[in-house]
Amino acid sequence: ATGLHNVAVSKGKLYIGTATEMYKLNGDAPYAAIASDINEFGMITAENSMKWDATERTQGVWTFTGGDNLVNWAIANGQKLRGHTTVWHSQLPSWVSSGGFSAAALTSVIENHTTTLIDRYKGKILMGREPFNDDGTFRSSVFYTTLGTSYIATALHAARAADPAAKLYINDYNIDGLGAKSTAMANLVAQLKADNVPIDGIGIQGHLIVGAVPNNLQANFEQFAALGVEIAITELDIRMTLPVTPEKLAQQKADYKKVVAACKAVPACVGITVWEYTDKYSWVPGVFSSQGAALPWDDNLAKKPAYDGIVEGF
Ligand code: XIL
Repeated sequence: ATGLHNVAVSKGKLYIGTATEMYKLNGDAPYAAIASDINEFGMITAENSMKWDATERTQGVWTFTGGDNLVNWAIANGQKLRGHTTVWHSQLPSWVSSGGFSAAALTSVIENHTTTLIDRYKGKILMGREPFNDDGTFRSSVFYTTLGTSYIATALHAARAADPAAKLYINDYNIDGLGAKSTAMANLVAQLKADNVPIDGIGIQGHLIVGAVPNNLQANFEQFAALGVEIAITELDIRMTLPVTPEKLAQQKADYKKVVAACKAVPACVGITVWEYTDKYSWVPGVFSSQGAALPWDDNLAKKPAYDGIVEGF
């Protein structure tokens, strides 16, 4: 098999995917040709256009254009969609983040947002996420501050009701290897299952650093799988301190291979999504100063050693 998605499928996984957005696909034909190649990517995630600030910037006023266009584009290519994201503390419109809702009112705001979004994209998978701080305590978002942990069950119940066939994931970063935050996620999912809250999967974001990928990925994936959920790596990128050198590219190749091999080794790990496929459009340089070159294709859309690392990992 050639192409990342094909290689993954040939090894029993469901997909390799990428995040993208319509404005890039419309404005950059060579870029779009790779993103739409089903041999490379069987799954598409909206990088921003399904987030709360993009879809319900004013309460009850919905903007679906970006998400709809991306869904239609992916379907035309034979690709599947991963929804991203329902309930998150970041990229919230101010009418939500500024607080001031009673618990009952905020619960119904969450229910309404989740129901409307998931109903719109029925047949796709969606997720809500990032409930934890790095030490495993709950993040003090407007949701947690007003509702405690109940907002998680509220969102998951609303999502299940809106689309009984959708796979419901909860996702976070820094839950790649074993550690306090991963333990907190395992405990949360165990509790959700004990409470009969619908939950199908744990999303491991995978925003990693060249030369610093945890060694216990597989053990961690196995502890999640033991809860009876599937897992997916949902936002993989492995960044380096710039400038790029051949040594760093070689280490990055080994790091991609290591992540893929851990997913391959755990049957519950169904697929991997990269957070954009080319360094040309990565979010990394804009957020982590002096860091970048985190993806398997370079700025000129040429495959990097990391690409071969993914293939070898399978
Ligand atoms: C990022 C996007 O890539 C950027 O374009 C945007 O400005 C900020 O959000 N974890 C996530 C993603 O879950 O939603 C983030 O995406 C990257 C980190």
